[in-house]
Amino acid sequence: MHTPAPLPDFPRCDEVPAWAALRAHFDAAGRSFDLRQAFAADPRRFEAFSQEVAGVFADLSRHLLDAPTEALLLDLARQCRLPEQRDAMFRGDQVNLTEQRAVMHWLLRYPTEGAQWAPEGIDGLDSERREVTQTLDAMLAYAERVRADADITDVVNIGIGGSDLGPQMATLALGHLAAPGRRLHFVSNVDGHELASVLRGLDARRTLFLIASKTFTTLETMTNARSARDWFLAQGGTDTARHFAALTTNVAAAREFGISTTFGFWDWVGGRYSMWSAIGLPIAIAIGAAGFRQLLAGAHAMDAHFATAPLARNLPLRLALSDLWYRNFHGFTSRSLAPYHFGLRRLPAYLQQLEMESNGKRVDRAGRPLPCATSPVLWGEPGTNGQHAFFQMLHQGTDVIPVEFVAVAEAAHALPGHQHALLANVLAQAQALMQGQADPGGHRDFPGNRPSTVLLLKRLEPASLGALIALQEHRVFCSGALWGINSFDQWGVELGKVLAKDIAPRLSSGDVTGLDPATAGLVARLARQSGS
Ligand code: F6P
Repeated sequence: MHTPAPLPDFPRCDEVPAWAALRAHFDAAGRSFDLRQAFAADPRRFEAFSQEVAGVFADLSRHLLDAPTEALLLDLARQCRLPEQRDAMFRGDQVNLTEQRAVMHWLLRYPTEGAQWAPEGIDGLDSERREVTQTLDAMLAYAERVRADADITDVVNIGIGGSDLGPQMATLALGHLAAPGRRLHFVSNVDGHELASVLRGLDARRTLFLIASKTFTTLETMTNARSARDWFLAQGGTDTARHFAALTTNVAAAREFGISTTFGFWDWVGGRYSMWSAIGLPIAIAIGAAGFRQLLAGAHAMDAHFATAPLARNLPLRLALSDLWYRNFHGFTSRSLAPYHFGLRRLPAYLQQLEMESNGKRVDRAGRPLPCATSPVLWGEPGTNGQHAFFQMLHQGTDVIPVEFVAVAEAAHALPGHQHALLANVLAQAQALMQGQADPGGHRDFPGNRPSTVLLLKRLEPASLGALIALQEHRVFCSGALWGINSFDQWGVELGKVLAKDIAPRLSSGDVTGLDPATAGLVARLARQSGS
């Protein structure tokens, strides 16, 4: 078994000379950078600022930076010893310092044969690799059995956060590859309306419940799991071994709950990085074992790129550096994500957890308050819907909000006319943001010079989706590493959980002893008004 070595010390971005150099460069030229002039001055700008990696074409030409800015940003990455930080993750060091854990979700997609690169410490990870392979094989064999079982018409995944968003996002994205005739449901919220509405349409004899929880202690998931089990028994269900499976690192707790079919994973897989583990079982049920392996292969190709590409052509790093440039120098507070594909409608929710739970931190690894801003607010909706809602603000509002467009060249449907209309809209939005329109002093004035990224896939398929998601994971890793924060813990979600535990019984008893006046006032009111 691998024992993670302590993480060496690395400098924080604001402590290295490149930070001051970037500040001076921003004041001298960065603040007034104009995209239109940059394109006029460099006819090869599109080629110079775009690249394709593992089936993901990235157009970075509409970022508010040029070669000198990128050179300084790369100096920053070097001075923060970003390559060594990356290698520490790929060596299995204690990158998650506050929980003394390694960060090795990449190992879940490291193939037994045909690996595209060999991390330095891979030989020391033999036993982890063996367990990964065994669990993956068992999980995929089980997925195939479920797929072959015509009596199971409905699969309900009960989980929240990382135990919900990844599988949900990916099964929607790859829905066109799913075998017809089986419905997948995702229940996450402790709000019983969600579970009740799903159960209403189900037949217990034809339903499989997957209880997905890394810890197997999460209040929402355990509450929903108990209610699902009660409903199953009340419907006359008897064979829990056939109708319930658990996906968890806490196999003992799942057994105690009464679930004998379990698929495990390990503490070195963060919840929001876990769709490649047993948590991905719904994806495998939807698209089959071969499809799931392609998803892993696409992610592995991006891992290999991140691990080996020179910094100047390292796509996750380039994205992270532009994120940092916008957040810490331009002062942009959010990024909008606009997926132009119906299948990617849960991508914004997925990436919100990935980015904001990872990098929404105010202290560095040593617990010192940070002098600079960290995670931007990430938000978005699928295009073209967003255009008819909040794009007004993106074009003419007082805030500059970088937009990340995700588009797919080929459609998976045959309806004429739609795909070109869709793609024309992506291009038009990026163009309008950049070019703007002059109507000095008038309401039709668009300032333009608003940055965007276009990520383009040829087709939405398992390998390209895997690469796209791994790209985002590594980008988040890079910005967290530059800020000097631990991107792999989430202490900020704990306080609310503790307080909710204290408040819940008070809603029945009406006891407000020791509560602050605002909470006490609402508890008293709700204790009178609400049922259990
Ligand atoms: O509360 C936050 C969180 O811990 C996430 O990080 C995690 O993905 C989610 O809850 C679910 O946790 P679990 O898989 O242990 O139920």
